[in-house]
Amino acid sequence: MIPRGDSRLKEERVLEYDRLASAPPAYLKDSQETFVPRPATGGTVRSKSAARGARSRAVAAAGGAGKRAKTNGKEKAAAADKAAGASGKRRDRGQMGLFDLASPAASEARPMPAAPAAPKAAPARARAAGRKETAGRKETAGRKETAGRKETAGPVAQQAAPAKASRQRGTAEQMASRQREISVSEFFTKNRHLLGFDNPAKALLTAIKEAVDNSLDACEEAGIPPDLEVTISEIEEERFRIAITDNGPGIVKNQIPRIFGKLLYGSKFHTLKQSRGQQGIGISAAGMYSQLTTGKPVRIISRTGKGKPAHLYEIRIDTARNDPVILEEAVTEWPHEHGTRVEMELSATYKKGRRSVDDYIAQTALANPHADIRYTDPKGESIHHKRITTELPREPVAIKPHPYGVELGMLIKMLHESRSRNLRGALQADFSRVSAKVADEIASLAGLRPEARPKGLKPDEVEKLYKAIPKVKIMSPPASCLSPIGQTLIEEGLRKNIPGCEFYASVTRSPAVYRGNPFQIEAGIAYGGSLPAEELIDLWRFANRVPLQYQQSACAITRSAITSAWKNYGLQQSRGALPAAPMVLFVHMASAWVPFTSESKEAIASYPEIVKEIRLALMECGRRLGAWVRRRRREEDAEKKRSYIEKYIPHIGIALREILGFNAREEARVVSTLKETLQRKRTI
Ligand SMILES: Nc1ncnc2c1ncn2[C@@H]1O[C@H](COP(=O)(O)OP(=O)(O)O)[C@@H](O)[C@H]1O
Ligand SMILES: [Mg+2]
Repeated sequence: MIPRGDSRLKEERVLEYDRLASAPPAYLKDSQETFVPRPATGGTVRSKSAARGARSRAVAAAGGAGKRAKTNGKEKAAAADKAAGASGKRRDRGQMGLFDLASPAASEARPMPAAPAAPKAAPARARAAGRKETAGRKETAGRKETAGRKETAGPVAQQAAPAKASRQRGTAEQMASRQREISVSEFFTKNRHLLGFDNPAKALLTAIKEAVDNSLDACEEAGIPPDLEVTISEIEEERFRIAITDNGPGIVKNQIPRIFGKLLYGSKFHTLKQSRGQQGIGISAAGMYSQLTTGKPVRIISRTGKGKPAHLYEIRIDTARNDPVILEEAVTEWPHEHGTRVEMELSATYKKGRRSVDDYIAQTALANPHADIRYTDPKGESIHHKRITTELPREPVAIKPHPYGVELGMLIKMLHESRSRNLRGALQADFSRVSAKVADEIASLAGLRPEARPKGLKPDEVEKLYKAIPKVKIMSPPASCLSPIGQTLIEEGLRKNIPGCEFYASVTRSPAVYRGNPFQIEAGIAYGGSLPAEELIDLWRFANRVPLQYQQSACAITRSAITSAWKNYGLQQSRGALPAAPMVLFVHMASAWVPFTSESKEAIASYPEIVKEIRLALMECGRRLGAWVRRRRREEDAEKKRSYIEKYIPHIGIALREILGFNAREEARVVSTLKETLQRKRTI
């Protein structure tokens, strides 16, 4: 990546804008003169200094070459930044402060002018004008142009001035001076809600979730049954320290800084198989939030094996560059043979109940029956979720993309980068489930030769190919990239986590496909017992074994649950709502690529194929629940009847004895006959 302050890049950009900005001189001068950066109070400043600024620009343009020689890249960058700061966002003072905290480099690069004045913008424009000559124009031509501008601009500017007094317009050059690359860390610092750090309670959960996700992913990938320790300690009000320790494979020393100090850096983005992490944004974003709210670095200890040293690092992120800054680096004592410990401090709130960290940990244990999790909350109370099974989940295998899921741009890129010499080979090698026959069929439908060179295909030819793909029947992608929890373990987990229910059921559907991505839906039900009968059911959503706590209403799982007809299964349900019943409903989606609605990974997008599969899974569980509910109702009715019989038959016996003059033996015989008859009727 090109560093932000690369003066070469800036120069090229400015040149490019200069080339494009071929407006008449009068216009140029006019607009330069009338543009004055907005002061903090708002409104336009039209002053002599503005005119002076324009004049100095003109002079600078004329003698640009000489000046340029004296100006080094750093100064240019600073000038451009000043110009940007002067005319840019004055209201961002608070946020800029956060940037300052995050990165001294950023604060240097972005001064906050209190009272911006016109001349501040001038050096950038002078620079821009001066560079025109570097583009190959003759110095004299530059002078002529400037001179021309000077002559003609005056009256025009004066005429235009009153009309423009109330509004400010920037020129392409002024905008160019402010245009620059935005680092991904800067972007997410400002938009941290996208990553799930939008409120203090959620921030605590998200930070823990990111670390736990990574620990579980790493342990599974290394074939180690995960032993996790999650501790939250309260340092002061609304300030916590979290520590997550795993027994995973550890992280190679050199990689530690980048993993924790660089956003969009990870090992899972480019492979197509089920995993909790995807974007390489999780743990570094948590570290960034920690740094932003407490100023403290993330502390990591990691060891990759017995006999190897345990490395300790303290890392912060330079948000302006999206690069790690190592504050401490040492070899340390650590009791674990292998694994990683991540520790960070953050501003947050801890609460109990729904969507709490406690809930999240319990649900994580449920969806990961092979994991052993010890959790200590801020009050010092510990819970040990023991593993249900020592068997690790099936190891997902990375697959190639399926042709049905590929987009045009992607197809162009893949064909361009293909190592195969012909189209047939490229389709076969780079996609899953494409045989030579299928490849030929696609090519012939697109009117292309299977022997054509993939790199030589023109965009319109690739488009034809793209349009031909859905017309050919291609086998579904392999489900080996998936690792579902399994029907038995779901039910066992539900029994362990929600004990005392009267009915449990679970189902694992066969794999299905959306947009060429394989996925699998699992569902489970725990019903009755001490669960509240009159309230709406509790919906527990999971994606790749990760509990989803927020954005319930935006999720395909909720939508599917709401649109299922629970009345058919003997439950009460209002229109557009979840059913009201003493029930916990568990739904899990396992996929090589879960289509989350945002980077914070809280809700699954409602692809019709996904909604359909979830509904089918719910229907299957629902049918079993319905059968059980109906049987139970029958039994309850029978029980009621039996109690009536027991209550009233002796009285009938007594009445008969009195009316018909039966003796005790006859009375007993009638009572037993009546009981037998009614019992028989009941059981038919
Ligand atoms: N506890 C850990 N043990 C081993 N590797 C880890 C651990 N935490 C993170 N990593 C590595 O760091 C990478 C980046 O993590 P992260 O930023 O959470 O992104 P993602 O999980 O989406 O890939 C992971 O892909 C993984 O390779
Ligand atoms: Mg992750």
